[in-house]
Amino acid sequence: MRVIIADNATEVANIAAKKVASVFRQTRAGGRTPVFGLATGSSPIGTYEALAELRKAGEFDTDGIVAFALDEYVGLDYSHPESYHAVIHRTVTEPLGLEHKNVHVPDGLAADLRAACESFEDAITEAGGVDLQLLGIGTNGHIGFNEPTSSLNSRTRFKTLAPQTRVDNARFFDSLDQVPLHCLTQGIGTILDARQVVLVAQGEAKAAAVAAMIEGPLSSMCPASALQLHRDALVVIDRPAAKRLQLLDYYRHINRYQPAELEKY
Ligand code: F6R
Repeated sequence: MRVIIADNATEVANIAAKKVASVFRQTRAGGRTPVFGLATGSSPIGTYEALAELRKAGEFDTDGIVAFALDEYVGLDYSHPESYHAVIHRTVTEPLGLEHKNVHVPDGLAADLRAACESFEDAITEAGGVDLQLLGIGTNGHIGFNEPTSSLNSRTRFKTLAPQTRVDNARFFDSLDQVPLHCLTQGIGTILDARQVVLVAQGEAKAAAVAAMIEGPLSSMCPASALQLHRDALVVIDRPAAKRLQLLDYYRHINRYQPAELEKY
């Protein structure tokens, strides 16, 4: 796991966006159209904004890019501004100029939720797998909506949100009561299948979860610790989110002495 401690949230976004753009270019150079794994929530917003700027500057193009969101609330109408269908449309599809038909979000309104999860997994496979998965992390260590004690081998499925997650996400709704109880989420196994993973985190509220993810034991109690098993995971965090890392100086040392011939990010 590569860890980059950025000076501030803007730098987190810029580093993550440069990495995404570089993976997109490499994927096209290898003869494939990139498949982009999308996170929602507040953490990746700056990265999407920085990506839109890089695209405008001609650093990469989004022609034909297929995207898969991590999760969706169950039972929340897609016209609701906080449904992940709406959030992804507003923060990713439009600003990055993706084609609506190429952007997949789990169907939290499906009559048969199990079948919806299976066809979501099938669609990822048919697209050739995710090239780069962008992630945030919950204060309880979740990735996607894989709450503590989620199977580290799980696939897309129905989950009950942890009370802490509902409290954390209440800021997007008028009241806690309005935060749905359930979701569909890609599994940890699904996320680990992505060829590359970039996780962004900002702010001290994430510091404990970030430390458990990077330096804690591999445990379903911190679902993000499963990224320790990933061969190509990059974690980009700001200083407050890095506050509880024991090996902070070592991560800085690695980045300072990164050989020039290796790609910087
Ligand atoms: C959302 C998601 C979640 C969030 C996490 C952090 O698609 O996958 O894991 O990344 O809850 O949320 P924010 O970024 O709002 O702090």
